[in-house]
Amino acid sequence: MMVLATRMTAAYQDAQPRDDLRGRRLVTLFAEASTRTRLSFEMAARALGAEVSHLDPERSSTTKGESFVDTVRTIGALGAHLLIVRHRRSGAPWVAARHFSGHVVNAGDGWHAHPTQALLDLYTLRRHLPRGVPGARVTIVGDVRHSRVARSNVWSLTAAGAEVTLCGPGEWLVGFADLGRELAPARRLKVTTDIVEALTGADAVMALRVQRERASGTGPSSAEYTRRYGLTAARLQLADPDAVVLHPGPVNQGVEIAREVSYGRQSAILDQVSNGVPVRMAVLALVASES
Ligand code: CP
Repeated sequence: MMVLATRMTAAYQDAQPRDDLRGRRLVTLFAEASTRTRLSFEMAARALGAEVSHLDPERSSTTKGESFVDTVRTIGALGAHLLIVRHRRSGAPWVAARHFSGHVVNAGDGWHAHPTQALLDLYTLRRHLPRGVPGARVTIVGDVRHSRVARSNVWSLTAAGAEVTLCGPGEWLVGFADLGRELAPARRLKVTTDIVEALTGADAVMALRVQRERASGTGPSSAEYTRRYGLTAARLQLADPDAVVLHPGPVNQGVEIAREVSYGRQSAILDQVSNGVPVRMAVLALVASES
């Protein structure tokens, strides 16, 4: 997967045409807001030769009462081969896959998972960490509880051999101590509310967005969160001097991360965005090769 993503990076940068999805129709169904995931899936699909259509649920027949399942069945009947689904409900892509004859790719569902984000984060870290991901100390700070990005990154980064530390207010870490116990012993996951402990010596730090739409009143106010956990330049000094700074986006500048850190020397945030296209090209090419 990572080797293929590297090949896709070269192809995309050089605008080399590829035929992996030639003759395939891909539909993006994003029932929740998105900038980078939707655009990068669509750009990736076009770079592989697919025909791409988008369904905007707010302007679709779901506003007339059509169900999600009937919408998916309709997209299938129109001849789509691949369906990319983002939904505020956890499990929606799984439901879609039961009613769609082609391939379904999860573009982020509720609190549950954002697998292609985790893949592009892993790809970005592989390119930025001089000693590689195995053995690297990766700290994820923020509203872990409501974060599908954090959940997917725990699985991918610990599988790749990183030591992952999750940090945030206690209310936003609920359930993760149990996850640490459920993981295989070879996977290394720490959970702490102590930001100094979490950042000290880290090789990479990922700040998570404060998600008011999902947190529904739990946890500290934004101002209190910034005071206790915001990734400031002073706090970043606790980490390795060359620690890589990540954020899945969209960023609340000045809330979970200081603007000077977000735009600073150590930031790989825009590289994450750029890597979204070739990583999703690799995912789509692999998926399409299955049929
Ligand atoms: N990281 C991410 O999923 O961003 P978007 O919501 O802009 O797609």
